Amino acid sequence: MPPSATTTLKATVSSPIEDYLEALHADCAGNDAGEVASYIPELARADREWFGICVATVDGRVYEVGDTRQGFTIQSISKPFTYALALEDVGRHEVGEKVGVEPSGDAFNSISLAPDTGRPLNPMINAGAITTSSLIAGTSPAERLERVVRTYSRYAGRELSVDQRVFESERVTGHRNRAIGHMLRTFDILTEDPNAALDLYFSQCAVTVDCRDLSLMAATLANAGVNPVTGERAVPAEFVAPVLSVMTTCGMYNAAGDWVDGVGMPAKSGVSGGILAVLPGQLGVCVFSPPLDPQGNSVRGVRVCRRLSRDLGLHFLDVVRSSRSALRAAYDIAGVPSKRWRSAAERTLLDEVGSRAMVYELHGDMQFAGAELVVRAIVERSAELEVAVVDLRRAAEIGRAAVRLLLDLRENTVAEDKELVFVEAGTHEGFARAVGQERGLPPLVFGDLDPAIEWTEEHLLSTYRGGSVAPPAVGLADHQMCQGLDEASLAHLEGLLERRSFADGETLVRTGDAASEIFLLTSGEVTVTVHRHDGAPHRMATLSAGMVFGELATIGRSVRSADVTAEGAVEVRILSTATLDDRGHARPALQAALVRNMLRGAYEHVERMTREVASLTRVT
Ligand code: DON
Repeated sequence: MPPSATTTLKATVSSPIEDYLEALHADCAGNDAGEVASYIPELARADREWFGICVATVDGRVYEVGDTRQGFTIQSISKPFTYALALEDVGRHEVGEKVGVEPSGDAFNSISLAPDTGRPLNPMINAGAITTSSLIAGTSPAERLERVVRTYSRYAGRELSVDQRVFESERVTGHRNRAIGHMLRTFDILTEDPNAALDLYFSQCAVTVDCRDLSLMAATLANAGVNPVTGERAVPAEFVAPVLSVMTTCGMYNAAGDWVDGVGMPAKSGVSGGILAVLPGQLGVCVFSPPLDPQGNSVRGVRVCRRLSRDLGLHFLDVVRSSRSALRAAYDIAGVPSKRWRSAAERTLLDEVGSRAMVYELHGDMQFAGAELVVRAIVERSAELEVAVVDLRRAAEIGRAAVRLLLDLRENTVAEDKELVFVEAGTHEGFARAVGQERGLPPLVFGDLDPAIEWTEEHLLSTYRGGSVAPPAVGLADHQMCQGLDEASLAHLEGLLERRSFADGETLVRTGDAASEIFLLTSGEVTVTVHRHDGAPHRMATLSAGMVFGELATIGRSVRSADVTAEGAVEVRILSTATLDDRGHARPALQAALVRNMLRGAYEHVERMTREVASLTRVT
């Protein structure tokens, strides 16, 4: 028997996102180009083989591959975070008086100021970064540094500290930065001893982080300034956009235009080999690999970011309307069964194992973040799942990355002898096209949710019971209408019933007809269909041998509200209301038993509908 649905088990289906990142890491690990920075002697000690990739979502899930816990100094990646703190400390106006926001197209350490204003061009080049460091509030150098480190720690969600060896190493060799500091002092951009600002700048560059920290720092910016794991605010929301703006235009120095074109995420690189990138509202990325290209950006880092953006559709100008609301509801099929009414034996089994099949209803635009949410939900529950039904009918736009992840997830699911089925309305071109593509494993797609759930029920029944247990025919003694009848009553009832047969497709009951007969289905199956306002048929139920129908309208003395049609050859026994009324006087016990059995059936429907409503209102 299946394990209880309440236990948290290790996922048995592998995440296509982890698979993808591992393959990407393996692909890019072969690229051996670039040189490890050595102008700060301590940095030259880095191992050129270190290579980590982290993707952190705005709800705090971190995907990691490679050397993601290897410490390294943050270097220039500190600049946007100190810029944000300066904005917070002295305000946009005062920061703007000292530092511009224009891309320079120069190297990070260029000795230049804007010719018209005399200000550093932007806070991402060293002149601007040294200036923003000088604006940090505090009554002493130690207090200012403490404030910077505490703020970075809030972004990372753990306590960070300065690597003193790297700090000292840069402090004694950073002549070019000292030249920049003195130039800033000459032009009154710095108004005090430049060495204080330089010390703070060298210290902030020497804060030790790892790849995971930086991905969470990026995810904090993506999450409007709140760390997604700790829930702590690292920066007021109003300063996030200005920071992301300068990262977009100036974060990659002289490679900025190429970066926006090919990657399309606000980013910042550092000479120790990190690249941090932010996709607002969706995720943060960090790649760490020390060898650098001539612009001072990590070779593998640039390569990985390009691939991530292309493969997962992460360009920030790929418009996303409602990525975080992609998962509308998730419920199991025990709560929301198909419209095929089940025998008591089937019902009992499906109640027991129904939690092993979940329906995931999606809506809104499905880009990476939306798909990731669904994929994660399914992977995390995979140990307890037999079938996942992904209902795409309300998804407006399904992006390339989402299609890819969903189809990869289906392959991983099938590899574990489980099933992933899709429901779609045929309007999702992207998905439909991908479905048509040559995949080794064509996905299982239904046009409506009800048949998908019915398929799932059959799958569970055959898995746990070796097949559907609906009986093709039942004798009167086993019929639900005859429960509790003694032999004499049964024999008497037998004489009152009229036997009728129907061929496949024949109508047994028609909408609008007067209701004067109760049908006891003894062989085959029937489908009950109502017509919607637009005339389209809608299946209400499929019933099998042993069940009763027509009793509600008959007892209510109303007209038929649905059509009932034979599915294959059907045999019924018919009890007319006139007979039931008539026998009521002669055999009150028989009449009472029949009414009791009908009532039991009616209450089962009510109970089933109550459960369905409860499940459907349990929106995730
Ligand atoms: O200013 C410097 O030289 C370093 N401490 C930081 C430079 C850096 O990371 C530039 N980034 N690519």
